[in-house]
Amino acid sequence: MTDLSQPDRLDDLVNHIQFRLAAAVSDYSAPWRTPMLATIADGGSTPTLRTVVIRTVDSIAGCVRIYTDRRSDKIGQIADCSAVELGFWDPSASEQLRVAGRAQILTNADAVDTAWAGLRPEARLIYRSATVSGAPLDAATPILPDAGGRDVFTVIEIRWERWDWLWLDQHSHHRARIHWSTDGERRAEWIVP
Ligand SMILES: Cc1cc2nc3c(=O)[nH]c(=O)nc-3n(C[C@H](O)[C@H](O)[C@H](O)COP(=O)(O)O)c2cc1C
Repeated sequence: MTDLSQPDRLDDLVNHIQFRLAAAVSDYSAPWRTPMLATIADGGSTPTLRTVVIRTVDSIAGCVRIYTDRRSDKIGQIADCSAVELGFWDPSASEQLRVAGRAQILTNADAVDTAWAGLRPEARLIYRSATVSGAPLDAATPILPDAGGRDVFTVIEIRWERWDWLWLDQHSHHRARIHWSTDGERRAEWIVP
């Protein structure tokens, strides 16, 4: 991590976070590759979390994409309430990032086709289950057909509105909030950890 003692280091911090998010997409072992995605369930009364893989990051547009099964619970939750948060933690760097924003299910079939085409064969397997995600099974391991899955595969795009970054440095803790207004203007500030 760079020296954070100067206020102008906030720009460096934003660059640092963007770099780490991009690395999470390309590096299979990056700790930030698998954040927890929080959605709101049951009409607003229940928060719920699950691990996901970050598939793309676009720092210009301000969004990340993840892939999922359109039958999974999170799809209905996002349709009911688009507010979501992603929680990233890197134990070796002691760095946490929370990315809050709005999620939408991509409706552009070309974009979903492209995402599907880029998936490794083993990553496609989970989309071949005949029954809905979360349904009871008779055995621990479902029997899956050799092909299919594209019909239930979909892409969630999360457009970020706020980052909350926390670094547990050996000597002190550092925390910053980066906020984007609706017209895309960025505001960053140090906050009490
Ligand atoms: C390391 C890891 C990565 C995962 N990646 C994804 C993912 O990218 N997309 C996804 O839908 N589920 C992923 N899952 C499974 C989810 O955590 C979750 O069990 C599943 O999506 C059902 O969630 P839901 O019923 O809340 O929709 C992953 C699980 C683990 C442990």
